[in-house]
Amino acid sequence: MSVENTPSTAAQEAANPAVDGSELIRFENVTKRYGSNVVLDSLCFDVASGKHVTLIGPSGSGKTTILRLLMTLVKPDEGTIKVAGEYLSHEERNGKLVPAGERHSREVRKKIGMVFQQFNLFPNMKVLRNITEAPVHVLGLSKDEAEQRARELLELVGLTDHLDKYPSQLSGGQQQRVAIARALAMRPQVLLLDEVTSALDPELVAGVLDVLRDIAHSTDITMLCVTHEMNFARDISDDVLMFDAGHVIESGSPEKIFSDPEHERTREFLSAVL
Ligand SMILES: Nc1ncnc2c1ncn2[C@@H]1O[C@H](COP(=O)(O)OP(=O)(O)OP(=O)(O)O)[C@@H](O)[C@H]1O
Ligand SMILES: [Mg+2]
Repeated sequence: MSVENTPSTAAQEAANPAVDGSELIRFENVTKRYGSNVVLDSLCFDVASGKHVTLIGPSGSGKTTILRLLMTLVKPDEGTIKVAGEYLSHEERNGKLVPAGERHSREVRKKIGMVFQQFNLFPNMKVLRNITEAPVHVLGLSKDEAEQRARELLELVGLTDHLDKYPSQLSGGQQQRVAIARALAMRPQVLLLDEVTSALDPELVAGVLDVLRDIAHSTDITMLCVTHEMNFARDISDDVLMFDAGHVIESGSPEKIFSDPEHERTREFLSAVL
C-alpha cells in the first residue's frame, strides 16, 4: 500500500526540495565566466514561489549577471537554471539535457518580467503603447484587452493622466513607473528589479519605491530585487542574500542580515552602505 511508500517519498523530498514544486527559481551549480573572470562560481540558490528576495553585495559581485541569466541575455557556462520547474537555457531531448533553442527559452522567459535601472522604454511610442506592445505581439491579446490591462496598471502606478505622452515628456520617476506597469502587463510570475531607483533624482525615489511596496504587499508576484535601498529591502524582503566573489556567503531574514550578520564581509559591506 501507499503507506509504505510515504516515508521514502518524504525522504526524497527532503533530500531534493525541488520535487515539492514550490521553487519558482532554482540556480544549480551555475558558473558564469567572462574570460578568466569567474563571475558566478557554482552558484546555488532558490527562490520560492511568492517570496520577495533581495540580492545585496559589492559592485561587481555578479548581481546583475544573475538577472541577465534569468532574462536569457547571457547563458551559463555550467550548471542549470529552472523557472517554474522548467529549464531555462536547456531543454530535455531524448532524455538528455541539451542547450535550449530560442523558442523554448522564449516560452520559459514569458514567466519573467524585468525592470531596468535605465527604464528602457520605447522612446517612439506613447505610454499606453509602451505597455500594450508586448501583450499584443508576444501574448496575442487583442488591442482592446491589452489597453484595458494597461489602463488598470497605469492606475496602479498612479499615471492614468499620462497615457498619451511620450517617455521624453515624463520625469524619470514617472518613466520608471511606466516601466513597472509594462513589465506587469505580461503577467509574469516573477519580477526582476535591478537597482530601479539608482538613476533617479533623490526626490523621485520614494514614489517609485511606494509603488513597488504596494505591488509586493498586494499581489502574489515573486520578486527578485537588487537594491541599495536598505530600508526598502527591509520592508519588502522575505529573504536577503549576500553575494561576494560569485557565491552567496550569507542569507536570512532582513532582520537577521541587517541587524546581526554572521559574516565579516557582510558587516563590512553593510557598514559602507547603511
Ligand atoms: N559583458 C561583459 N563582459 C565582460 N565582463 C562582464 C560583462 N558583464 C559583466 N562583466 C563582469 O562581471 C562581473 C559582475 O558584473 P555584474 O554587473 O553582475 O555586477 P553587479 O554585482 O551587478 O555590480 P554593480 O553593483 O556595480 O551593478 C564584473 O566583474 C563585470 O566587470
Ligand atoms: Mg549591477
